[in-house]
Amino acid sequence: MPTQNNTHLQALKDAAKLAASNAYAPYSNFQVGAAVLTANEKIVKGCNVENASYGLTTCAERNCIAQAVVEGEQKLKTIVIYTEQEKLTPPCGACRQVIAEFLTADAEVISTNHLEQTKVWSVSELLPDAFTPQDLLE
Ligand code: THU
Repeated sequence: MPTQNNTHLQALKDAAKLAASNAYAPYSNFQVGAAVLTANEKIVKGCNVENASYGLTTCAERNCIAQAVVEGEQKLKTIVIYTEQEKLTPPCGACRQVIAEFLTADAEVISTNHLEQTKVWSVSELLPDAFTPQDLLE
């Protein structure tokens, strides 16, 4: 990951793990935590929040990004996703679109787990040719 973010990587992983412990996932039992590093070097957390009306579930990544916006942070540098899964969890399609709204195409999306494994993608790898705010500009 870019050196400027290296010092934050462990803190991001710890934050994402802590967020996962707050996940509300009684239906899937699939707890997910996420943490973003903002352009102001702030770390913001999110977790998945399920609902008895299953389709209303919101993922950790989208809740995390929404929380960053709530906190006045709209420029996001990196997002870390934490699950206690042997197969590292990638963001779902809907989250990829929301990630592409607030992180640049070359920003890193990092999945990690309880085994200290990590997988890293760029935003553009996860969502090539994304429709972004730039596409609305004339
Ligand atoms: N989920 C996330 O929060 N993020 C992902 O990247 C994958 C899926 C949640 C949604 C649902 O609460 C549970 O995981 C199972 O799909």
